[in-house]
Amino acid sequence: MSKIELLEKSHDRDGFDCGSEPLNLFLKQTARQHAERGISRTFVLVDEGATAPKPIVGFFSLNICQIKSESLSPAEAKKLPRDVSGIRLGRLAVSKKHQRQGVGKMVLVAAMGKFMEIFNTAGGIGLFVDAKDQDGKNYYEQYGFVPMPSNELELFLPVKTIHEALSAH
Ligand SMILES: CC(C)(COP(=O)(O)OP(=O)(O)OC[C@H]1O[C@@H](n2cnc3c(N)ncnc32)[C@H](O)[C@@H]1OP(=O)(O)O)[C@@H](O)C(=O)NCCC(=O)NCCS
Repeated sequence: MSKIELLEKSHDRDGFDCGSEPLNLFLKQTARQHAERGISRTFVLVDEGATAPKPIVGFFSLNICQIKSESLSPAEAKKLPRDVSGIRLGRLAVSKKHQRQGVGKMVLVAAMGKFMEIFNTAGGIGLFVDAKDQDGKNYYEQYGFVPMPSNELELFLPVKTIHEALSAH
């Protein structure tokens, strides 16, 4: 069994390798500083019985973002005021050892769960993500993320889709 925890010192950041050096470095060098300064929060997936230094199976980070509704599709934009807030899924990665075993999906579902906690407290129109390339875009699209008209590599998962995904889970 695995569980999601807020990133802290007891997690083995140095031992994490997802195959993408910028993402590894973010976890090792930036994530905790960002959390202390209120820039973003990073959550890690660890095995239930793990002891410190706890191996990190996967992680994601979230921050609040402001969106101009005109950057969404016209159908979405017409229901909204000009400035709205959402949650940005800044980073998402799974350790190489655990890739292609469904862990990415677990991490994404956990991120949706965190989104709902924020939504229930302060609102937010959905999750936004910047895919790093076409593969990343394909990865997110399979979960219902839709590309933004202004930038094909920026994708949006509306709250309605998140609700549906979590109720089906
Ligand atoms: C992308 C990533 C998070 C996927 O994690 P994962 O645990 O391997 O994903 P899952 O096992 O849940 O994959 C579910 C499905 O997503 C698709 N998928 C997985 N990795 C993919 C990738 N790199 N590109 C496109 N689609 C992918 C596949 O259809 C897969 O199903 P399959 O294994 O039956 O073919 C992981 O490969 C990773 O951390 N990569 C390096 C960092 C990265 O690319 N981050 C996000 C992209 S912007």
